[in-house]
Order: sequence, then structure tokens, then C-alpha cells
Amino acid sequence: MNFKEQIKQGIPAVLPSAKPYPVAANRAPKRKDILSTDEKQLAVRNALRYFPKVWHQELAIEFAQELIDFGRIYMYRFKPNYVLKARSLVDYPAKCKQAAAIMLMVDNNLDPAIAQHPEELITYGGNGAVFQNWAQYLLAMKYLSEMENDQTLHIYSGHPMGLFPSSEEAPRVVVTNGMMIPNYSKPDDWEKFNALGVSQYGQMTAGSFMYIGPQGIVHGTTITVMNAFRKVLNKGESAKGKIFLTAGLGGMSGAQPKAGNIAQCITVCAELNAHAATKRHQQGWVDELIDDMDVLIKRVKVAQAKQEVVSIAYIGNIVNVWESFYEQDIYIHLGSDQTSLHNPWSGGYYPIDMSYEESNRLIGEQPEVFKSKVQATLIRHAEAINKHTALGTYFFDYGNAFLLEASKAGADVMAKNSIDFKYPSYVQDILGPMCFDYGFGPFRWVCTSGKSEDLDKTDDIAAQVLKTLMQDAPEEIQQQMQDNITWIEEAKQNKLVVGSQARILYADAQGRMEIAKAFNDAIHAGEIGPVVLGRDHHDVSGTDSPFRETSNIYDGSRFTADMAIHNVIGDSFRGATWVSIHNGGGVGWGEVINGGFGMLLDGSAACERRLKSMLLFDVNNGIARRSWARNEEADFAIKREMARTPKLKVTLANRVEEHIIDKLSF
Ligand SMILES: NC(=O)c1ccc[n+]([C@@H]2O[C@H](COP(=O)([O-])OP(=O)(O)OC[C@H]3O[C@@H](n4cnc5c(N)ncnc54)[C@H](O)[C@@H]3O)[C@@H](O)[C@H]2O)c1
Repeated sequence: MNFKEQIKQGIPAVLPSAKPYPVAANRAPKRKDILSTDEKQLAVRNALRYFPKVWHQELAIEFAQELIDFGRIYMYRFKPNYVLKARSLVDYPAKCKQAAAIMLMVDNNLDPAIAQHPEELITYGGNGAVFQNWAQYLLAMKYLSEMENDQTLHIYSGHPMGLFPSSEEAPRVVVTNGMMIPNYSKPDDWEKFNALGVSQYGQMTAGSFMYIGPQGIVHGTTITVMNAFRKVLNKGESAKGKIFLTAGLGGMSGAQPKAGNIAQCITVCAELNAHAATKRHQQGWVDELIDDMDVLIKRVKVAQAKQEVVSIAYIGNIVNVWESFYEQDIYIHLGSDQTSLHNPWSGGYYPIDMSYEESNRLIGEQPEVFKSKVQATLIRHAEAINKHTALGTYFFDYGNAFLLEASKAGADVMAKNSIDFKYPSYVQDILGPMCFDYGFGPFRWVCTSGKSEDLDKTDDIAAQVLKTLMQDAPEEIQQQMQDNITWIEEAKQNKLVVGSQARILYADAQGRMEIAKAFNDAIHAGEIGPVVLGRDHHDVSGTDSPFRETSNIYDGSRFTADMAIHNVIGDSFRGATWVSIHNGGGVGWGEVINGGFGMLLDGSAACERRLKSMLLFDVNNGIARRSWARNEEADFAIKREMARTPKLKVTLANRVEEHIIDKLSF
């Protein structure tokens, strides 16, 4: 059977034989053994729903074994034999282009060049799943191949519930991931309901098929590090010879040294897993590898003296670096952390004085001991950071739940009011006021022809649009526009493409709409093939996350999730090709609600209408909320948008004089 025939078939008619696990694959960690015997039976019963009765005897034994061995039922033998990668749009068997575009994006998220644990359908972040098992993948792709442009596929946490009649204007796919009744949204609930096969952790872009490899995170990290240095340096002062100390060289954290190099500083990045550090070194994402603290200290002092731009991976625990640099009087300008503390108990964060291998053994054998070691390390970690910040280091939480987990462990990270943290999150200080409140966020696109020439043309179009807009842009957003023009002009030479022909940049509502319209015009003129638009959920409006995306909301509403829900509903009836809403992502299950969209541009007039309507709402929904929260930058941005768009009428906040509030007695 060829590729198209296999897709159209869905679950194969003949039972495929069991497969050995591929030797070179990076396997997902064994998950917690959390189900009771009755629940394990239920998990197998649930899994067998996908298959004809005649296979049940054989598959029941195999699936029970997968549950014992890995804590999940992945249905390995149903993984298709064809190569999983984004093909050209025309290679997919589909009755409508929109469905083919979604198939392309699904396959891109399972491409072994992109996905962290491709055999377990995990794209990134250790648990960010596209589907829970291979049967769901096969069925979803079959439905997409049959879909006509007046049908919608509803996907519940990876499970394709079915194709429902809708209309041409409706989204082709609606995805929900990990939506739980709020009282059942603790981390162990994820373990349990995911093991039962009824829920999944979609992270932010894995479960919405919008992950585009490391490029997205390189861009976001570059913007963050550059703007963080702008906060601590004098105007015009260079970051050369100044230290950025952080940890993690994994899926997304691995972007830090590359971003540090683009920002022109000395990056020291600790990584306990020697394989992860070596991989990043071989890929050219970090310049030097050092596994000895004395050598590291000498090297860093030389780099400081020579004002070098260099990135150094230290193979070891980050806590040792913070402590040793303090003893050695090495001044750190910027400090952060990107260990996986959204997932602290199963390998996201490693305790001090233990090797990577010892830690992993302890997780399986004595999870409670492991947990107490992690918490003790977090306390020590925070103590060392506090010593540096007392000297002037600027430390920010990098959206990995470091301060949240450190506070739960009892570390000294709380502010005097015992509500806030001592240190800002990168959104509170940097991305929120400098980007999100103005509407700047991670806009991305994929050229569905798969041709690099198309990507080059879209780069040129985007740069041209931004340069034109910059001519009339107010002072407040000039810096962001210039950073993104520089980024897009250098993007090709920075060789950022892995998997599909994708690009990212930060743009505001006007920028996104103008760029999308210019792409649609170029498609109409036959200059490029169709383009998928999308964005990271980590954006202005898509995500409610009190310790990350909405951490700079100070009116008490940061623990609400209305904005993300309005966003996904609003996008869905304004023309998105697919929409998704997730519990979890980045900071952890139960800690965030985030959503996003995908939109296929095909060059049509209908598409132009849809992109204008949807992108305007997709960005301004969040700006309106941020303005209502009294954020000055958002107030500026929404007034500017209302002046441009007469049909937009947003409720504006009146600011009360503080002395009136101060005089109140309760
Ligand atoms: N704010 C953002 O934009 C943003 C972006 C990316 C990632 N994140 C968050 O950052 C975290 C990391 O993401 P990732 O995809 O790189 O995860 P990952 O699990 O692939 O990588 C984390 C790395 O940290 C290492 N590590 C853990 N404990 C350590 C310790 N004590 N010392 C040294 N190294 C240690 C691990 O070995 C691992 O390689 C996640 O929580 C993610 O949600 C935030």
C-alpha cells in the first residue's frame, strides 16, 4: 500500500505484527504506576474499543504489558510504517485543502527530527502529546482524508470523536486537550486519566499540531534575553563580557545558548544530562562543553576579561554553579532557569549530589525520597540565587514554574506580602509590558509546498511589510519592530528550519494582519503555494497562566481563564481552520488554560475576509483584557486599534487616585 492508501485505510484491515522498539529512539520515561487493578482493566478495555473483537485476545495481553512496562498504552504495533514528516500539501489524500494542511501539521509534530519521544507521540516538554496512542492517529488521519469542507472533526484529548456536519465557515477541526472538571486537575489526575486513555497533556503547541521545532523558542528566548539586558545595562552598553547564567539544554531550554550568542553575552548553561549537553554541542547550539568546575571558573574569568561572546555548557548541577560563582566573586548580570519544573517529580529537575542515572533510578524505586531531595535542592538553589541578587544580579523566572515549585518546597522566594514572589517572571518584567501588552506575540507560518524558495519569499514579504509599517509606528513599538526586522533578515543564515518550512516572528495585530494579507495576495498571484498561519499559545490572548503569560495582570483576575476561552470560541467563528484549547502546557497540569488556532491561506477572497476578522480579534481580545487590568501599554494599544477600527468598542478602565483608596478603612 502506498502512503495515500495507508492514510485512507485508518486502522488496518489486517492485524499488523508486533514490532520491536526502535533501538535509536528516545523513549518517554516510564510513567507512574498509579492505577488500581480495576482501573488497569478499564484502561485495557478502553484501548480495545478501537479494534475488532477478533483481535482482542491478542491485543489485551500486549496492551496490559505496555501498561506494566511503561505506565501507558501506546499501541506501538499500530505505528504506521511510512516516514512521519511534513510532506507537501498535494501528497496528502484529502477532499479539501484545509484537511490536507492539518494532516501536514500533524505529521510535522510527529517527525522524529522534531518530536522528543516520537514512538510515544510526544512532541516536547516530556509529556506534550499529539495523540495518546497510534490508533487515535490512524483514525484522525482517516477522518481528515474523508472530510469535506462542510464537516468538522471534534478531537477530545487525541481521541477523534467523529466528523460532524457543519458549514464552510466553521473550523475543520476543534481540539480540546486535558479539559477537566476543576477539582480533578491535580498532577496525579493527569497520571491517572492519561493512563486510563481518556485525557492527555497537549502542552501548548504539540496537541494543537502547531509546534515547529526549536526555531520558535530560539526567537522567544532571543527577544527575552536581549530585552532583559536592556533592563540592566545602560543605554548603548553592550552585553559583551556579561554573564547570563541559566540551566537546561533540553527540548526548549537548549535554545538558551544560541539566543545568548545572538544577544552577544557570555552564556553559562548547566545541564546534568551529559547526552543532552553533548547533543546540543554537536548541533552547534552551544560553543563549549566543560564538566569540571575549576575549569569552568577559569574559562569564565577569561571570557569576562576578553569581553567574549561565547556559550558554555557546564555538565553538572546548576546549584553548584550558583554556589561556586558566589564563592569565586563572579558577578552574574542575568540569571534564570529552564529546568523542567512543570514536571518536578518525574525527571524535570534533578537533585544536587546525585548523578543523572542515580536520580532516574530513585524516581522509579523511591519516588517519595526523590521528591524530598528535589525540594531540599530547590531550597539550596534559591538560597544561592538570593546571595547573588543581593549583589545586584537580575534574576527572572523563565516560565518553568521554578518559583512556584521553590515556594511549595519552602524556599525563601516569597515577597514581603507573602502573595507574590520575590522575583519577577519574564512576562511580568519583560515580555508582558514590552510585547504582549502592545499585541506583539509569536506569529508563525508554514509553507505547505515544502519548498525553501517559498519560505525565502515569505521572509522577504514579511520584512517588507514590517519596514513599511515601521515608518509610521509610534516610538513605543519601534524597538520591537526593529528587533523583528533584524530577526527576519537574518533568519535564513541562522539556519533555524527543522522539519517543515516554517518561520516565526513577533508582530502586533496590524503586523500580523498585513503580513497575512500580503501572503494571501502572493498565493493568489501564484508566487507561492498555500501557507498555514498559526501562533504559539504563549501569546497576548491565548493563554491564562497566573505565573507566566498573565503574570503581569494585577487586578486579581490572573487566576481566571475567561480570556483563553473567549479567544478560542471567538477565533472559531471568525474563520480559523482549526482551534484548540488545553489544560496544562509549560507550567503544568491545572496551572494554565491555553489555546490557539491554525489557518490555511489559499489566496482566495474568502480567506482575506477571514484572516482580517480573526487576527484582529485574536490579538485585541487579549489587549482589551490587559487594558481593563489597567496595564498602560495595553491601554495605549487598544485606543490606537479603536481609532483604526471604528467597529471595535472596548470598555476602558478609569483609574482611581491612590490616596482615595489609601484613606479607606475596613
Ligand atoms: N517561558 C518560555 O517561553 C518557556 C520556553 C520554553 C520552556 N519553558 C519551560 O522551561 C522548561 C524546560 O523545557 P524543556 O523543553 O527544555 O524541557 P527538558 O525537560 O527537555 O529540559 C530540561 C533540562 O534540564 C535539565 N536539568 C534538570 N534539573 C537540572 C539541574 N538541577 N541542573 C542542571 N540541569 C538540570 C534536564 O536534564 C533537562 O535536560 C519547561 O518547564 C518549559 O515549560 C518555558
